[in-house]
Amino acid sequence: VTLRLSADDYGVAAAERLDAAARAYVDGGAADEATLRANRAAWQRLVLWPRVLRPLADGHTRTALLGREIEHPILLAPVAYQRLAHPDGEAATALAAAAQGAGFVLSTQSSVALETVARLVRDEPGRGPLWFQLYLPHDRGFARELLARVSAAGFEALMLTVDAPVSGVRDRERRAGFVLPPGVSAVNLAGQPRRGPGPAGAFCQGLAAQAPTWADVEWLRAETALPLLLKGILRADDARLALAAGASGIVVSNHGGRTLDTAIATAEALPRVTAAVAGRVPVLVDGGIRRGTDVLKAIALGASAVLVGRPQVHALAAAGAQGVAHVIRLLRDELEMAMALGGCATLSDAGRWLLGGDAPG
Ligand SMILES: Cc1cc2nc3c(=O)[nH]c(=O)nc-3n(C[C@H](O)[C@H](O)[C@H](O)COP(=O)(O)O)c2cc1C
Repeated sequence: VTLRLSADDYGVAAAERLDAAARAYVDGGAADEATLRANRAAWQRLVLWPRVLRPLADGHTRTALLGREIEHPILLAPVAYQRLAHPDGEAATALAAAAQGAGFVLSTQSSVALETVARLVRDEPGRGPLWFQLYLPHDRGFARELLARVSAAGFEALMLTVDAPVSGVRDRERRAGFVLPPGVSAVNLAGQPRRGPGPAGAFCQGLAAQAPTWADVEWLRAETALPLLLKGILRADDARLALAAGASGIVVSNHGGRTLDTAIATAEALPRVTAAVAGRVPVLVDGGIRRGTDVLKAIALGASAVLVGRPQVHALAAAGAQGVAHVIRLLRDELEMAMALGGCATLSDAGRWLLGGDAPG
């Protein structure tokens, strides 16, 4: 048995388990995949300036998120159709997250019903936050029903994805001829009224005409009592609009390089967003986070927490729930080591100094 010691090791293991089309769906990005590559490269390019001989006794990775304490700042990002990777799908990833105290964000397009996932984990002691990612259904009635189901099931926040009004140009996926296999579908959306087809090719009268706008964010804000985070923000001006619209949190994301190719890497976008938000709400980030050092760099740039996408699917494909729990554990352990070696007893010690800025005091 090959030892799996890093998130990338699970990527290799998953490649042996998933068929070529599923692999293209999971691992691929948009178009030439420049943003997909840039996400990872940008974290790696940031260099650490460790401080030595700092007191590390009583160090820990605990932090707070939306008013509750969490064991560590790693959440599982919303990833659609996880039964592609394993028959247990989102039930397995949610349980693994709970076992590791990691936050879990269930995709609107999950292949296990939202009620089933919530029931499985909501009473688990020591679990992290349980949130629901929302693709806002165009039909208001259906949207209201979905929101009612989400809060009745026990989800604690909504994460509205705002960077995918249309799906990207997914060349790798199309080349591989990916289609959902029988038995894997967006079960939460069964019964959704079909969108009226736009005129062929007329994109602005088609899908994009039904895409949510800031007005829909206001509608949603008024419609639900749950905290609302916006996922897919890359700019300071949009971050300010999100605050004005009443967002309780912002996720700096480019959808893992799956939507707009050549969009800026998230590690590069993050500092401007954290500066604009100035601590008023938590800022989270995802895209290419594969190492504890990446997590620490995100925190040093002002993020409150990070999300990981593909590694959870890789681990799920390779080893089910156990694999997912293990990959979270690996990232946690790496984060602890990065903190100790960087001179941070707690996450609040991390700051710009770690990336070359002036040290406090
Ligand atoms: C296979 C796959 C499916 C995804 N499905 C969703 C989704 O349903 N909703 C969403 O907001 N983001 C979705 N994402 C994006 C992730 O939430 C996240 O932003 C991204 O994967 C982070 O990058 P990483 O994979 O490099 O960690 C998906 C990503 C992947 C890889």
